[in-house]
Amino acid sequence: MQDYILLKKFGAGLHSKKVLLLQHRENKQDKIVAKYCDLTRKKSIDRFNSEIRILKHLTFLNCPFVPKLLDVDKKRGIIYMTYCCGEAPGFFEIKAYKDIVKKRMQELNKNYQVVRYKNNGTRKIFFPVNNNIIINHKNGQVYLIDFGQPDWRINGTRVLNIPSSYFDSF
Ligand SMILES: Nc1ncnc2c1ncn2[C@@H]1O[C@H](COP(=O)(O)OP(=O)(O)O)[C@@H](O)[C@H]1O
Ligand SMILES: [Mg+2]
Repeated sequence: MQDYILLKKFGAGLHSKKVLLLQHRENKQDKIVAKYCDLTRKKSIDRFNSEIRILKHLTFLNCPFVPKLLDVDKKRGIIYMTYCCGEAPGFFEIKAYKDIVKKRMQELNKNYQVVRYKNNGTRKIFFPVNNNIIINHKNGQVYLIDFGQPDWRINGTRVLNIPSSYFDSF
């Protein structure tokens, strides 16, 4: 990742220490995201490991509407992933995108066995907060980001309860 330089810092997310947009020194079109976790806090480490696992799974299955996992720096607590070009929808704008976001969440469940339920699996499918949705206004693409919640499940099992050997094979 030495070939990348800082382009901008994203507005603070809810949980991460910082999230940076990096640009390749030579190929300016090549942009990636570096998400930093606070390795001094147990909750934050859980989020870090959860996100790596979900992104690994979805990257392996080539899910087109989430970031792809590029690399992980476990010592420094950094997840490198592809940049989803666009912006989070505004408070009023989200109405227009509600159906497509719901469809994406259902696709995650149906096609990729990845699901996050409200209230520990007892209620209907979770609707993400606005800044975990990215809309590309040029081509209409809608992305889902931020898989740090340990509530995410793969095949019905909470992500941190899945043996790490399952992910090693990717
Ligand atoms: N892969 C990505 N592509 C584009 N923007 C991203 C990406 N990952 C994070 N961001 C930006 O950084 C912000 C914080 O990232 P997020 O993963 O939601 O962190 P947190 O876990 O702290 O909420 C997001 O709201 C978004 O603006
Ligand atoms: Mg977030």
